[in-house]
Amino acid sequence: MPNDPIIIRTVADLRAHVADWRRDGQTIALVPTMGALHDGHLSLMRLAKGQADRVIASIFVNPAQFGPGEDYERYPRTEAEDVARLATVDVDAAFVPTAREMYPEGFATRVHIERLGDVLCGAHRPGHFDGMALVVVKLLTSALPDVAIFGEKDYQQLQIIRRFTADLNIPVRIMGGPIEREADGLALSSRNRYLSPEQRQIAVALSVALKAARDAVKAGGDPSEASAKAREDIVKAGFDSVDYVEVRDPSSLELVTEAGTPARVFGAARLGPTRLIDNWPVD
Ligand code: PAF
Repeated sequence: MPNDPIIIRTVADLRAHVADWRRDGQTIALVPTMGALHDGHLSLMRLAKGQADRVIASIFVNPAQFGPGEDYERYPRTEAEDVARLATVDVDAAFVPTAREMYPEGFATRVHIERLGDVLCGAHRPGHFDGMALVVVKLLTSALPDVAIFGEKDYQQLQIIRRFTADLNIPVRIMGGPIEREADGLALSSRNRYLSPEQRQIAVALSVALKAARDAVKAGGDPSEASAKAREDIVKAGFDSVDYVEVRDPSSLELVTEAGTPARVFGAARLGPTRLIDNWPVD
């Protein structure tokens, strides 16, 4: 029978638990999340179990990464269900701080990521990646894990985290976990819970269109034509608008203009008030 995770609320307590485990010679994996856990998160926890002796999941809806008018207030907060789900995959501890614990009175520091943070979602959500980087730097330097694991659905986020951990000499291995999908291909996301049954039917079109663009580029098609076709298909399927569909280099995130080079197809589109993202590798 798996045990319930230890619930940790403060950075001091997190450090104390990590220090105890380190004294026993144990290694640590951290899986940062904003909660509202789904099977995609659980697959990251399972990956983490194979990488270290102890697994910590953090659950924190980080105000710094939401812009004005975004969904910070309505983002699902489901701590009791999340903790129960973490128990099913034998996570050792859940770090669940308050906003005050992470950003105490007088907090004045910002982190800014150039280039990688300016494109794709960065161009449509100003300040989002800086706010994300701020909290991830704090989580990593608080827990000092051996490895930290992030899902590839937020692929741009993953590349940015790789960049700033290298730039800031944060001694942690960053690992990506593959996207988990529903049977029809919709990428699992905490924001899928916002969708009405009708919107859920439409939502799969994002994955389908990006995959078709991926197939076209893989077969030698022009990346910008494949992206334009995907944008059209997403709107035709019923999305209200498309933020972007672009084919970019998987490491530098530079635009790819010719088939035959390493690439990934990225997309973001809006369905009512819900913004969904997805991506497919061009193998
Ligand atoms: O991917 C997320 O859920 C968040 O951006 C993260 C990495 C937990 C930081 O708040």
